[in-house]
Amino acid sequence: MIKLNCLKSDSAIIGEENGLNLKEEFANYSETITHIITSLNQRKDKPGQWLQWMNLGYHEQTVWYVKEFASMVRGRFDNVLVLGIGGSALGGIAVTEALLKPYWNLLTKEDRNNYPRIFFLDNIDPDSMNALLSILDLKKTLVNVITKSGDTAETMAQFMILKDRLQKELGDDYRKNIVATTDKSLGILKQIADQEGYKTFIIPNDVGGRFSVFSAVGLVPFALVGLNVDEIINGIKDMDLALKNTDIHQNIAAQGALIQYLMDKKMNKRISVMMPYSSRLKYVSDWFVQLWAESLGKEYDNNGNKVNIGPTPVKSIGATEQHSLLQLFNEGPNDKIITFIRVENFDTVLEIPKSYEYTGIGYLGGKTINDLLNAEADSTRVSLSDYSRPTLTITLEKIDEYNIAQLLYMLEVQTAIAGELYNINTFNQSGVEQAKNYTYALMGRAGYEDSAHSLQEKLINV
Ligand code: PA5
Repeated sequence: MIKLNCLKSDSAIIGEENGLNLKEEFANYSETITHIITSLNQRKDKPGQWLQWMNLGYHEQTVWYVKEFASMVRGRFDNVLVLGIGGSALGGIAVTEALLKPYWNLLTKEDRNNYPRIFFLDNIDPDSMNALLSILDLKKTLVNVITKSGDTAETMAQFMILKDRLQKELGDDYRKNIVATTDKSLGILKQIADQEGYKTFIIPNDVGGRFSVFSAVGLVPFALVGLNVDEIINGIKDMDLALKNTDIHQNIAAQGALIQYLMDKKMNKRISVMMPYSSRLKYVSDWFVQLWAESLGKEYDNNGNKVNIGPTPVKSIGATEQHSLLQLFNEGPNDKIITFIRVENFDTVLEIPKSYEYTGIGYLGGKTINDLLNAEADSTRVSLSDYSRPTLTITLEKIDEYNIAQLLYMLEVQTAIAGELYNINTFNQSGVEQAKNYTYALMGRAGYEDSAHSLQEKLINV
């Protein structure tokens, strides 16, 4: 099981001005936390609560279909190209970057055990899209178009380009190279998929984009590149069971949520930094940033009061950022809480040769890169604590399907609990929808004519 160490947020370690009296706060909030966890678990099956992501570890049929599809197409494709944005891409990127062998797309087919390369197009930059399209052999590419709403402009524009190119290359057979992941009835993609006969996976009702990594959104690409989907599911289930514990002393998601919430509300630490000490976990930070920002950044609370709240998540990576952001973290404004992710056992060991023994770098010889990275994580934690900066540390025994699933699921539950503490709707995103609607208006979508007119005026005025 993954672990959370909160000690370096405690006033006993970093002082009363910046730290929390954790014993006291856990006691003060014990009932509230029990109530929140009980309520989330009671509400999770109710339609409209957007808590179905808490059940994704138990969707056995989906797992079966996903694995069957992956085994059916095994060996047919050299590339998987995922089209999606935001919650439809970030989880997939985070998990594949963490779990596939590093530099996967550069490995030979044999080294990839005959599984395909994987590419995520999560932006609409014309230069990078054209470049990717010129590299990929589309006949050997399976396009997985993912959109919950079924009509996000970026994803649908990408889809239109890819479908057109595939059709030109493959004629009527193009549909065998497309798999759609979308809502069961809403949105244009579902209609197209039905009409044109694409293999389709459904994103269950009440699973929002940023909580969808363990639905078909993530599972399809994971299975296609050979990740162990069963171990992912085991990781979620075990963590789900552990997080049903209503005692804050036993529930790491509740501890993380409460500490982050109190650091923001009581101690004015409005910035939450996610800092894994592993290059493979770099994109877990990107995923977390979206989860935290879209879920907790809100204009109104649940009582309709205008609150404009939300901690600002920042991504960082050790040891690289020790030579960039750390100066600010240590000596700049004391307005952050930093979450370290530390890996106990890396997959491989890299020894530093014994050389230059009688020089200032001689001490490195005979050690390993593994020792150096973890020493840097520990020294940075201590140095931040010397400067009275609060930190949390999540420890993973190793990076594998089981532990990564636990980590992501734990952070999802932490976000849901934090949302309850802030008394906001964690699962809507009106700020995102507004920008989407403005884009539709500017690009001439039918039904958005009025917005288009007023937007044109606003654009002229700036
Ligand atoms: O978390 C969310 O809901 C958003 O980030 C969406 O995932 C994102 O806007 C993409 O939406 P869709 O999956 O509908 O294309």
